[in-house]
Amino acid sequence: MLTSPSMKITFCCTDTKPDLWLSGLQAALPQAEVSLWQPGTPPADHAVVWAPPQQFFDEQTQLKGVFNIGAGVDALLKLRLPPGALVVRLDDAGMSVQMAEYVCHAVIRYFREFEGYALDAKNGKWAYRKSPQRDDFSVGVMGLGVLGERVAKSLRAFEFPVNGWSRSAKTIEGVQSFCGEAQFNEFLSKSQVLVNLLPLTPDTQDLLNRTTLSQLKPGAFVINVARGAHLVEDDLLALLNEGHLAGATLDVFRVEPLPPEHPFWRHPKITVTPHTSARTLRETSIAQIVGKILALEQGAPIAGIVDAVRGY
Ligand code: NAP
Ligand code: GLV
Repeated sequence: MLTSPSMKITFCCTDTKPDLWLSGLQAALPQAEVSLWQPGTPPADHAVVWAPPQQFFDEQTQLKGVFNIGAGVDALLKLRLPPGALVVRLDDAGMSVQMAEYVCHAVIRYFREFEGYALDAKNGKWAYRKSPQRDDFSVGVMGLGVLGERVAKSLRAFEFPVNGWSRSAKTIEGVQSFCGEAQFNEFLSKSQVLVNLLPLTPDTQDLLNRTTLSQLKPGAFVINVARGAHLVEDDLLALLNEGHLAGATLDVFRVEPLPPEHPFWRHPKITVTPHTSARTLRETSIAQIVGKILALEQGAPIAGIVDAVRGY
């Protein structure tokens, strides 16, 4: 066995039932000692976490690896982390296909006017609707990382014109690449549908606001599947009510769960889902994390290391 007998792994994930994670990690690393963290747990070598309290890192000062059981590390990077620890995000682990399903479904629902047909069906009405021209239905994907690239390629499979925006220029077949602030406005102005798959960082917080969303084509749709704090909610509501935007599909919110009194729930142009577009798959994630722990222990390189300065 490759693990050292004394290797300690501790698990600290808010809002996650621990039992199957603990047994899965222990089965995959039989010679390690896997524990559920509680205050006073002795120092571990590696941690598997989601939204741990600051006390966790204040006590666990000897961690070599901190494995986040999600792709987004915004909540983690708000904490004071042990200086020597590598922060590692989930690297797809079955999320990109889910995200592609979710976004393609939402885009096609708008493009083919399925909501209108559902309403007609309720009223026993048999009537054709004229879909827009596919060439006019450009989809702009913000963020072309692990998830955004998969989404962009999946949308291309349906022959939508696809543009992507990222920090660095990309080469993805059939996808026009825009990058950096200098090309942001041009990217927005070409989008009939805007899909947000950016990480939440100081640079991207509140990026979906009145100024930026006003630059989308009239009658545009917004799909936010990244983080709630990317979107200025009142600005979205105003642009929907004024008619510049035709609809929004929102999976993430500034406050989660979305409070019952929130106007998004009942807005006729907004579709709400409960942060479910790409769920963490436990078994796949355990296999990925364990593979990386073993690689780190052997001094081998791993993918998915977070750059704390960049914020993702
Ligand atoms: P990723 O691989 O880190 O990709 C991030 C992309 O965003 C990269 O293309 C990056 O550009 C670009 N980017 C970052 N900062 C930018 C900026 N200031 N301007 C322009 N582009 C910028 O992340 P991922 O795995 O695709 O995940 C994206 C996000 O999805 C996560 O951070 C998380 O918040 C969210 N998410 C949501 C769910 C859900 O269920 N709703 C599930 C999983 C993830 P470069 O390529 O040039 O670096
Ligand atoms: C979920 O939102 C994730 O970041 O994995």
